[in-house]
Order: sequence, then structure tokens, then C-alpha cells
Amino acid sequence: MTKEEKVTSEKVGIYPGSFDPITFGHLDIIERSSKMFDRLIVGVLCNKAKKPLFSAEERVRMIQSVTSHLDNVEVCSFDGLLVDFAKLEKASVIVRGLRAVTDFEYELQMAQTNRTMCPEIDTIFLTTNLSYAYLSSSIVREVAQYEGKISQFIPAQIVPLVEEKCRCPKD
Ligand code: COA
Repeated sequence: MTKEEKVTSEKVGIYPGSFDPITFGHLDIIERSSKMFDRLIVGVLCNKAKKPLFSAEERVRMIQSVTSHLDNVEVCSFDGLLVDFAKLEKASVIVRGLRAVTDFEYELQMAQTNRTMCPEIDTIFLTTNLSYAYLSSSIVREVAQYEGKISQFIPAQIVPLVEEKCRCPKD
């Protein structure tokens, strides 16, 4: 098999999100879904509308540091439509995590919109580990802002960064 044939036969998945910051819930989905693909791309949405606390570059670096043990995981930022980014990366599957039934309506709408725009890309849903079903990035930011303990929500190596940013958001 030539290198080019190998690249085109690769199964590539995309796990998109804001990751502001990445939590154990996201990491659980990344670890599990990375086993399903030759390459898993974690796509960090630049999303200026959501006014992220961390820049896209900071979020990419944090995710790279907590996924360095996963050989087939790449982290990139993207802007614009997810399906365009997926096509660019030759991904055929979008991975999303479902925490509770409340996530479902929004996720279904996104998956159906993406499928209408790009029928060759499918969305799969993984149920979030029950231990993290309540977790969200904004909860982590809020706890950190009030100087609560966040080490049970996010990996140890990014705790100081999140604490510093949440306590001095203008830095
Ligand atoms: N563990 C912990 N938290 C989780 C989680 C998990 N497994 N899954 C989701 N969450 C939380 C996130 O922490 C985030 O919390 P926050 O709102 O407090 O920050 C929240 O759920 C939403 O998270 P996220 O998965 O980052 O989704 P999003 O809504 O920010 O972004 C995109 C979703 C990136 C997939 C979507 O906006 C997109 O594709 N945008 C590109 C534009 C586009 O193509 N639009 C058309 C698609 S319809």
C-alpha cells in the first residue's frame, strides 16, 4: 500500500467543541473515541461569539498537554462551519458526548443540520462517563473564580493555568 493510499484509507474522526477549558468529561470522550479511529482530531472552535476565557491557542496547548499520551490524537483550532473543517481534515465522523437528555435536542439539531449540509459525514454520540455527567467548562470557571477546588474536574497540569486565568481574567 502506498503512503497516499494509506492516508486515504485512514479513518479520521473529529471531536469538536469550545473546551474553555477542557475537563475530565471531555478527556474521557477523547480517550474512548481515539480507539475508534486511526486519527482523532480535537477541533477547538475559535468562536468569538461565546467570548472564551482562553484564546484558541491557549486551549489548543492545554488539550495537547493533557492528550500527549494518545499517539493518534491531534489538536487544531478552527473557525467557520464544522463540516468544512471536517472535509478539510478528511474526517468522515463527528464525535459528540451526551451528558444528559437535556443535551439531546441541541445535539440532534446540530447533527441533522451537519448531515443535511454534508451527507457523507456522520455524527456519533458517546454517553459521558456518569462521574462527569454534571460537568461543564463554565462550572469549572465559576468554581475557580470563587477560589474553589477544581482538581477533581480538570487534569492536574492545567489547574494552575485555569486558577490564574479565572482569578485574574484580564491577564
Ligand atoms: N464533559 C464535560 N463538559 C461537556 C461535555 C463533556 N463530555 N460535553 C459537553 N460539555 C459542555 C462543555 O463544557 C460546554 O460547557 P459550557 O457551555 O459551560 O462552556 C457545553 O457542554 C457545550 O460544549 P461544547 O461541546 O464545547 O459545544 P459548543 O456548543 O460550545 O460547540 C460545536 C459545539 C463546536 C460543535 C458547534 O458550535 C459548531 O460546530 N460550531 C461551528 C459552526 C457550525 O458548523 N455551525 C453549524 C452546526 S449546527
